[in-house]
Amino acid sequence: MDLTLEHARALDAADPLAAHRDRFVHADDRVYLDGNSLGRLPRTTADALARVVEQQWGAGLIRSWPRWLEEARATADLLGEVVLGVAPGQVLVGDSTTVSLYRLAVAAVRARPGRTRILVEADAFPTDLYVLDGVARDHGLELVRIAAPIDDGVRAEHLAPLLDETVALVCLSHVHYRSGALLDLAGLTTLAHEVGALTLWDLCHSAGSVEVPLAASGADMAVGCTYKYLNAGPGAPAFSYVRADLLPALRSPIQGWFSQADQFAMAPDYDPVAGIDRIAAGTPDVRGIAAVREGVRTIEAAGVAALRAKGSALGDLAIALADAWLTPLGFRVASPRDAALRGAHVVLEHPEAWQACQAWIDAGVIPDFRTPDRLRIGLAALTTSFEDVWAGLDRLRAIVAEGRHLAYPTERGRVT
Ligand SMILES: Cc1ncc(COP(=O)(O)O)c(C=O)c1O
Repeated sequence: MDLTLEHARALDAADPLAAHRDRFVHADDRVYLDGNSLGRLPRTTADALARVVEQQWGAGLIRSWPRWLEEARATADLLGEVVLGVAPGQVLVGDSTTVSLYRLAVAAVRARPGRTRILVEADAFPTDLYVLDGVARDHGLELVRIAAPIDDGVRAEHLAPLLDETVALVCLSHVHYRSGALLDLAGLTTLAHEVGALTLWDLCHSAGSVEVPLAASGADMAVGCTYKYLNAGPGAPAFSYVRADLLPALRSPIQGWFSQADQFAMAPDYDPVAGIDRIAAGTPDVRGIAAVREGVRTIEAAGVAALRAKGSALGDLAIALADAWLTPLGFRVASPRDAALRGAHVVLEHPEAWQACQAWIDAGVIPDFRTPDRLRIGLAALTTSFEDVWAGLDRLRAIVAEGRHLAYPTERGRVT
């Protein structure tokens, strides 16, 4: 591969998504390689939020609720269609990923009475491990951690030996947070289904970056956040997916009034609706949902297939540059090299990664750090250029080659 700046610029000039970059706020000329932690602010979002606050809330007051509820449903269905490729009525937007995961995990184990085990990847995102540990304890189940190499993630040969009719639920991340490994969602779902287990997919790092074959695979449930590739902003509500035919079998452990049939009859006894609102809890975050809508529209305008193609190409360039420039400096590419097996982030391992991370930020590049010694390079295709990748890695090469990072503390501070 041609590793010159000119080539990176030529890739940008030929990039069909290049114009989408201007749909976002770029407040300064820092190189942002962290769109997989917090996506950039879409230009339309501030106005959309102002409309909700000033007109709908300020002027409309409580009369705006019918509209807000319609928007909540329309936004969830739009996210389902554009990001997940699923038919309407199967996605709910609300609460955090953590809460959503808890709710569906409990509903799932209760829907598989008599089964005694939950399977989760050993290196799952910590909140998933904590939540599932709690669910297992509370229900007298065993939480089994699936051992698999971090860089490549869980494959059939890791999952299959653990599957039998004692398994109630298998919970996996479609794109692994620490390596970018993209799992075979369809194949692993089929394996779980062969023993009658339910599947719950964490889509935080795949929603808006890669196609998610939920519909084709018959996957049961999924959750994901909207503040990464979906660009909905800090703390924006998460999404939950439940396959329509599974819904009647699920009962949320949070029996809130927003899931109640004829909600305003104010009946004393719980009687949940049949549809996806069956898993809803309380009053939706109207401002958050407005931000989700604007973020999902940025994905809709580009199309997930195009985002996936560009994310792969950005990753291929990052890996080629890392091989040429950074491997001689002690870095190791800790992500799958085959773009078909990788999401939209690339991870570089180095024993001084934490120091390099701090020096890199001071040099005008914003990356991400993940324990124990990993730099995570987020390649959000809507907002990251090929020149960003080139310039970012060029600065990292200079820092480490000159040993400038060694002046930074070795003790790890807070990272996002
Ligand atoms: C893979 C994964 N799962 C779950 C979460 C937790 O999401 P939340 O804090 O929105 O509950 C994150 C957050 O970054 C994540 O990356």
